[in-house]
Amino acid sequence: MNIRTHTCGELNINSIKKTVVLNGWVNTIRLHGQVIFVDLRDRYGKTQIVFNSEGYLEDFEQVKKLSMEDVISITGKVQSRSEGAINPDMTTGEVEVMVSKMEILNEAAPLPFIISDRNSAEEDLRLKYRYLELRTDELQKNINIRHKTYQAVRHYLAGENFLEIETPVLMKSTPEGARDYLVPSRIHQGKFYALPQSPQIYKQILMISGYDRYFQIVKCFRDEDLRADRQPEFTQIDIEMSFVDEEIIYKKMENLTHKVFKEVINVDLPKDFPRLKWDEAMDLYGSDKPDLRYEMLLQDVKPFTDKSEFNAFKSSEIVKGLVVLGGAKYSRKIIDNLTDYVKKYKAKGLAWMKVEDGYLSGGISKFFNNDLQQELIVKLKLKNNDVIFMIGDDKELTQVALGALRVEIARIEKLAKNDIFKPVWVTDFPMFEFDADANRYVARHHPFTAPSTNDISELETDPLSLKSRGYDLTMNGYEIAGGSIRNHKPDFQEKIFELLGMDKNETKSRFGFLIEALKYGTPPHGGIAFGFDRLVMLLAGTKNIRDVIAFPKTTSASSLMDESPSSVSVSQLSELNISIISNKD
Ligand code: AMO
Repeated sequence: MNIRTHTCGELNINSIKKTVVLNGWVNTIRLHGQVIFVDLRDRYGKTQIVFNSEGYLEDFEQVKKLSMEDVISITGKVQSRSEGAINPDMTTGEVEVMVSKMEILNEAAPLPFIISDRNSAEEDLRLKYRYLELRTDELQKNINIRHKTYQAVRHYLAGENFLEIETPVLMKSTPEGARDYLVPSRIHQGKFYALPQSPQIYKQILMISGYDRYFQIVKCFRDEDLRADRQPEFTQIDIEMSFVDEEIIYKKMENLTHKVFKEVINVDLPKDFPRLKWDEAMDLYGSDKPDLRYEMLLQDVKPFTDKSEFNAFKSSEIVKGLVVLGGAKYSRKIIDNLTDYVKKYKAKGLAWMKVEDGYLSGGISKFFNNDLQQELIVKLKLKNNDVIFMIGDDKELTQVALGALRVEIARIEKLAKNDIFKPVWVTDFPMFEFDADANRYVARHHPFTAPSTNDISELETDPLSLKSRGYDLTMNGYEIAGGSIRNHKPDFQEKIFELLGMDKNETKSRFGFLIEALKYGTPPHGGIAFGFDRLVMLLAGTKNIRDVIAFPKTTSASSLMDESPSSVSVSQLSELNISIISNKD
């Protein structure tokens, strides 16, 4: 094989008259009688190569048999293209290579889909042939963005004195939140390792060991229900720092985010990221990851519905309204669809009224007398052709359902632009929430998060009113990072485990090593972890996390290319002393 002298993205007018060797994939073929044009492709670009039956020294019939995605090596001379054939959109668009020799290195079988048109196949088929999909322009661009993001992150953090340290992938199972992926031990039969949901405890222990600035770009594993922005194995930029408070962490992470956006996609983010307390975010946006690219705030309309004749909301804890500018155009069918949509978030229904000729009309407007209508129109600054949607129920349910409607309407109305980035810190989360099914408190962040009080007795008096020292960095409706200041005192940590329903024995067997470690000189510390894949999704302008991972899993956690998970042999199982009780597949 003749080894390439240049890549397919390299030749230009300065290369004219040179004899070159190119290696690559046949991207397109155009037959013009005795002249055949081929675009030869590699990851650097495409170059037009020309086979002319007169100048070609070898078997021209072989050229005629070329098909898309064959891998070839050609030798030829670079020449300028004729005037009309210049392609200003290609870096190599002013030249072409007149081929004298060709070797077919590998013939491609008929393709299951067209590489140049990713949408020509369903996602399942593309995932089965992921190696072909990874040849598409879009995925090549995304994988490049991902690479640049790793480099920008490492460069910034190393420059700020963060040490990159690897932590174990086989660890103790300490589930809290999602389910663990378990790995059976052969040597210790009946015992299991877990794959880390995050290196949380290890990074805290590294602080105890004095490595006061740590980072790791690390795989995490969570056996949880998957969505468009969730994968069972995903990557975090995991960070921990000692002797810090929230402000230091915010500043460093803002700098990191600035640097990444500037270096990877040349975008300048706002200097200081705005902040919202969790209460405010829920109240105004109905979400703890608000999308600030558009307004449409949730408004308090209970004072109005209470004065109306509409009784369904009278006993609701809150009633919230969402005004859609120009939304009076929505047909009955669209409103019915939106009603079904909010029902997914447990809302019982969706009330609405349109504004027409200075009055409210349709929906529940007949329950509002003229004076009340005018009051509402003035207070909410309603205009003709607007529509107001309303939900009344328990506080969080109302906020979440109307917040979801806000996002759905923004999607329908295309209000959110992909090239606008609105970061916002969400702070002051509640420390605990009550899980009625389990009949116990659960941590909103994770159990290692410090409460906002230094008084341990306050932890017991009214746990539900306590705020935590946790924070999330959100952007365009995604939670891109989450972290907290930690409990560095063992008594606080033990008390929190107790409130989470763990007795002393359980705490000892699950987290004894951490409580013990906290006793040996633990600096105050805190940290954060970015969802690396989500960050890359935003940088690449895609809403599908699978578009930024080379070999992703489906929403049912399988890999269609290598068909994992798969059965294992009886002998493998017996070595582990494991037997399958029943096969559900
Ligand atoms: P948390 O659980 O919030 O915090 O995770 C941090 C970030 O990781 C991303 N993320 C995911 N991305 C893709 N698929 C998933 N299944 C998935 N789950 C989470 C999110 C999230 O913001 N140890 C703590 C961090 C800390 O306290 O320092 C932790 O893991 O973008």
